[in-house]
Amino acid sequence: MTAYSPRELYLQNFHDRVAGATSAAFASLPAKTPFREYKSSYDLLCSIVLESPSPRTLLDVACGDGHLLRLLSDSSRPLQLIGVDISQGDLDIARAALPGNVRLLRERAQEMSLDTGSVDIVVSHMALMLMDDIEQVLQEIRRVLIPGGTLAVVVGRSFLLGEANDVFLDLFRPIARQSLPPLKLGDRRTGSVEGWVELLRTGFEDWHFEDIDVPWEPAPQELWQALTETYDVDRLPDEARCQLRDQLIPAWAGLQDDRGHIHTGWGLRLVRAQAC
Ligand SMILES: C[S@@+](CC[C@H](N)C(=O)[O-])C[C@H]1O[C@@H](n2cnc3c(N)ncnc32)[C@H](O)[C@@H]1O
Repeated sequence: MTAYSPRELYLQNFHDRVAGATSAAFASLPAKTPFREYKSSYDLLCSIVLESPSPRTLLDVACGDGHLLRLLSDSSRPLQLIGVDISQGDLDIARAALPGNVRLLRERAQEMSLDTGSVDIVVSHMALMLMDDIEQVLQEIRRVLIPGGTLAVVVGRSFLLGEANDVFLDLFRPIARQSLPPLKLGDRRTGSVEGWVELLRTGFEDWHFEDIDVPWEPAPQELWQALTETYDVDRLPDEARCQLRDQLIPAWAGLQDDRGHIHTGWGLRLVRAQAC
């Protein structure tokens, strides 16, 4: 087994400390594509699975606390569900919430113990853009999928939506430069459609992309609270985090509507392809 990289050790440590952070942020916000609105970005992936002809075995890569697996296990479709993740904290929550026949494996997506051609559909929510050696991850996904099997993943597209993002970046960047050694997570190509096309060219065909907006109208304090559970803000030393908060909350106040809310949200992307 390959040793975890410093980036994987950080991600594992974060998700062990703040287990359930991703589903807390996304499970109750709607997700809008140019064509349809879903209850959440997890629900969007769930719909793709339930609309697929006859998947029997499904793998959720980096399943976290198992929120997506739970939606799928509650559906009427009989599916053999498997989740893989490196965070024991998240996997413990998943184990407690999921039926015993859901297989949960503490493994890196780069080297999974699943048999070749043993999975009909691979899903993943907000994880592939964080991973080291994405080419190896996609090769592993291709290996475990049957020929013609489906890959359907949601990844990040932009951080916050709208002006709240510009305000955040203007204040975050100088503070981070002074106090934070860079920890570049993931492969830059997972941030663009062109990059995904390059990555999927080997082993996949019929790729398809959709922008997903997850609109949210929090008060500044609520938005700050959510950002403390994101990697960049989490990694700041305490003093720098307080400095950022003290500058950001008043700066965001200028964006509040007459109810005190900021119109923002998260920018995501759906990536779909078939294994060839
Ligand atoms: C942002 S969270 C998303 C969790 C879950 N998919 C969700 O949306 O609720 C990213 C997850 O990726 C997992 N992860 C990161 N790198 C991984 C790797 N190389 N192999 C497996 N899991 C990984 C982390 O432990 C974490 O649970």
